[in-house]
Amino acid sequence: MNILITGANGQLGNEMRIVSKNSQDRYIFTDVVEIDGQETAILDITDLEAIRKMVKDNDVKVIVNCAAYTNVDKAESDQEFCELLNAKAPENLAIAMKEVEGLLVHISTDYVFGGDQYNTPCKEDQKGTPTGVYGLTKLHGEQNIQKSGVDYLIFRTAWLYSEFGKNFVKTMLNLTEAKPQLKVVFDQVGTPTYAYDLAFAIFEIIENRKYEGNTGIYHYSNEGVCSWFDFTKMIAEIAGNTDCDIQPCHSEEFPSPVKRPAFSVLDKTKVKETFGIKVPYWTESLKICMKNLMKA
Ligand SMILES: NC(=O)c1ccc[n+]([C@@H]2O[C@H](COP(=O)([O-])OP(=O)(O)OC[C@H]3O[C@@H](n4cnc5c(N)ncnc54)[C@H](OP(=O)(O)O)[C@@H]3O)[C@@H](O)[C@H]2O)c1
Repeated sequence: MNILITGANGQLGNEMRIVSKNSQDRYIFTDVVEIDGQETAILDITDLEAIRKMVKDNDVKVIVNCAAYTNVDKAESDQEFCELLNAKAPENLAIAMKEVEGLLVHISTDYVFGGDQYNTPCKEDQKGTPTGVYGLTKLHGEQNIQKSGVDYLIFRTAWLYSEFGKNFVKTMLNLTEAKPQLKVVFDQVGTPTYAYDLAFAIFEIIENRKYEGNTGIYHYSNEGVCSWFDFTKMIAEIAGNTDCDIQPCHSEEFPSPVKRPAFSVLDKTKVKETFGIKVPYWTESLKICMKNLMKA
């Protein structure tokens, strides 16, 4: 089977490259630019005809959409383009897959929630109440896919980090080494997700054809709960950056163009029960990623 990965140069896309190395299926990696040393075909997912051509030329049966507009703060002043990439482009992919009776695997976010008060882990059927442009456009993307009639798997994830690109773990690894003191918010709670773990879960589901009869929305993050403060403390501890004095603070101390969800914990019961997946605990995955980062 031929499987197309979009946004293959991003965090999740790069982890898809790693997990699929020994697959019997053929993976085609695409993004808007080529990167030295990485096999990448050019595909802009805002271009429906280009997607159709790529699907036809390669007899694609599954698309895993790892491409998105992911800059949450910038999105507030760039709504039109963010909507194009996060809502219209997934619809394009859904149309192209529907035409060949294929499957669209799409990634969404905990930012589709946050506008109302709750303190229990979010289930898949909780009402979407996004607080900003990024979350709203990602919710529109989900809705467009659902309306298209395509077979789909939508994985909502949260606090993604990896060895690739820019992310919280890399930033805090550097800051806790360089700075004597650091304040980090403790009033936003969630669960980090090692992009490798999510990629591996997606790969397993595709490889073993577990998606058949199971299309729908699923939540996937690592196990456990922490604040950004706790996350930073753990990063510093693993790195041995013990000289940095890390203190908790409130979100108001770091003004941002967008209000972030205060409680981003995702309930993973459905994904575990449906696909028989074991989800790693967040500190265990963090140790693995940081080991890779520190030896690089
Ligand atoms: N990062 C998080 O904390 C987080 C949390 C929850 C959910 N998610 C979701 O998880 C998914 C993966 O996130 P990520 O962090 O791996 O994203 P990422 O690192 O930002 O990667 C996205 C990739 O998509 C590419 N891209 C941009 N425009 C494109 C287009 N028109 N056509 C094709 N590719 C395009 C980007 O290229 P350029 O870099 O050149 O623009 C980049 O390589 C996204 O759906 C995101 O919304 C992320």
